[in-house]
Amino acid sequence: MQMKLLQDRIRKDGKVEKGNILKVDSFLNHQIDAELLDEIGKEFHRQFADRGVSKILTIEASGIAIAIAAARYFRCPVVFAKKTKTLNIAGDVYTSKVDSFTHKTTNDIIVSKRFLNAGDRVLILDDFLANGKAIFGLSDLIRQAGAELVGAGVVIEKGFQEGGKKIREMGVDLRSLAIVDSMDPETGVVFRDEE
Ligand code: G4P
Repeated sequence: MQMKLLQDRIRKDGKVEKGNILKVDSFLNHQIDAELLDEIGKEFHRQFADRGVSKILTIEASGIAIAIAAARYFRCPVVFAKKTKTLNIAGDVYTSKVDSFTHKTTNDIIVSKRFLNAGDRVLILDDFLANGKAIFGLSDLIRQAGAELVGAGVVIEKGFQEGGKKIREMGVDLRSLAIVDSMDPETGVVFRDEE
């Protein structure tokens, strides 16, 4: 279910840039509105409260603040996957690869084997869902650990890119607090109508 408070804030302070980039750096991923993040954390908890979440998994950098806000409600630890260029010295880790369509780069991501275990019930959280590569890489780490992926939450889904469809087709219960179906520098964003 989408979150009206967040949609209103995106309408007010989000900036649509060329190349289908939605800038939300005045409240979400550069300057951060801690009270809005608290509401976002509360909403993720409301939507996934019955899943027995034992750990929240995200990816640095922008996912961390969101995961922390939610973890205070779930009362569980946050683990964030690190992006690294030095896999060979990373030690005892699970690794996967994440291509960034937006940044045109590929990152190796790692999580220490100490912090993801068989038996963990893991909720993935992130700021943006575009092509789904970040969530796909994180779910790969969960699979390697023998843990269970119990759901995924993103703050903003770019509904006109393919990630949401692909992740849902994998059978993941994906919830997005705002789904942008189209955007234009002149006319702004259009959110998906709720079913
Ligand atoms: P994907 O993970 O869904 O495949 O998305 P993609 O590769 O396109 O996104 C790569 C990075 O760009 C991600 O951040 C994602 O949050 C960000 N991103 C994608 N679309 C937008 C957008 O419209 N606006 C903004 N502001 N960011 C977008 P990242 O590489 O993980 O960087 P960070 O978390 O370290 O900032």
